[in-house]
Amino acid sequence: MKKYYIRTFGCQMNINDSQKMAGMLKTLGYEPARDWEDADIILVNTCSVREKPDQKVLSALGEFKKIKNKKPDAVIGVCGCLAQRAGYEILQKAPFVDMVFGTTNIHHLPKLLEEALQGNKAVEILEDIDQNETELDKYPTVRENRYTAYVTVMRGCDKKCTYCIVPYTRGKERSRRIGEILQEVQWLIDDGVKEIHLIGQNVTAYGKDLGDVRFVDLLYAVADVEGVERIRFTTGHPRDLDEETIKAMAEIPQICEHLHLPIQAGSDRILKAMERGYTQKEYLEKIELLKKYIPDISLSTDIIVGFPGETYEDYMETIKVLKEVEYDQVFAFKYSPRPGTPAAQMPMTEDPKTLSKWLNDLILMQKEITFKKNLQYEGKTVEVLVEEEKEGRFVGRTRTNKLVHIEGRNNLLGEIVDVKVTKVNRFSLEGEAIEQLV
Ligand code: 5AD
Ligand code: SF4
Repeated sequence: MKKYYIRTFGCQMNINDSQKMAGMLKTLGYEPARDWEDADIILVNTCSVREKPDQKVLSALGEFKKIKNKKPDAVIGVCGCLAQRAGYEILQKAPFVDMVFGTTNIHHLPKLLEEALQGNKAVEILEDIDQNETELDKYPTVRENRYTAYVTVMRGCDKKCTYCIVPYTRGKERSRRIGEILQEVQWLIDDGVKEIHLIGQNVTAYGKDLGDVRFVDLLYAVADVEGVERIRFTTGHPRDLDEETIKAMAEIPQICEHLHLPIQAGSDRILKAMERGYTQKEYLEKIELLKKYIPDISLSTDIIVGFPGETYEDYMETIKVLKEVEYDQVFAFKYSPRPGTPAAQMPMTEDPKTLSKWLNDLILMQKEITFKKNLQYEGKTVEVLVEEEKEGRFVGRTRTNKLVHIEGRNNLLGEIVDVKVTKVNRFSLEGEAIEQLV
């Protein structure tokens, strides 16, 4: 049997696309390779959100090139956001690549692979969105995790954040029809999945392009599918997160008490330059509303440090927000100019060394907040969905998205169990399953 290997960079959307590509290759008769050296087809699913992932792709390709010495017929393919943005450049820099395709024609993989297997360069980068892109949704996913699964509910983004490449690599917002989403949810439940994670670049805008359905309708409909025990969704935009959605989060029992709500910066001046569409005050009002309806909610966010023109005073506004909100987790990155975005034309004002220090200070401060938040779990009983077994211990997540290592004698895989937390670490909890105490 021929074997495939997929290396994925970037966000959940890319992970889900890779899972679908694995599903496609499986239906074509391929099986997963243990390692890339073992594969007949290597796919690199790329991200372009910052410069670093761009570089990582090129170094991965440099490594994978060696497969051709051992297996001259092996096919190397590049897809995803960097391929969409700079596919022809990749071909120039890495001429040994056989296949390049973008983000809206992934469902053409079988056709492109056939072309590549005949010894041709198979390149298809579309400027416009492929009208049949939802063909991809019909394939099964190959997932590492048996009990939780992503479901793509919308693609693209209509926001115009001035730093962001995504609208260029993923196009405008397109929501999937609700019936098709529910069908996929049902397949996953039939396959043993307990937790459904709805994903999209901007899920809170779901349905706006369809006109007859809203994000809250989708939430209620997914919750109505029998067997859906937990629901998560990522990523929401603060502007589109309305009180109705927050109410639904509180009301629907399966929706987990966790939300990732990117703020990006704390300073109103910088938020305006980023065209985020809210002020610090408006963002904090949403957080307050979330905490009012869902008192035990855990929160995470994304931060960009060093957007063009950001001063120390602006940066301190971000620090102020982090102290005030007390997020459970923060993903912070240094600003990285992306070709073709409006911000890439704006001059950088601080030197890279200063920005690195700001970023490191922020990360260190957040580390303490995260630990403090974790300490609140000491001695408490939490509900955990057990997702895997690792080195004799079970590993799962709380509804608030905390990683828990569990001592257990019985097989707890796939179970939702109450766990008494016995130890708190910086990035995880440890505990004992309650049933086994009695
Ligand atoms: N530079 C740095 N970080 C960026 N992000 C998006 N674009 C950039 C950029 N040009 C971050 C944002 C976003 C996350 C996925 O990546 O914080 O929420
Ligand atoms: Fe990276 Fe954005 Fe593309 Fe996801 S959508 S892979 S984060 S560039």
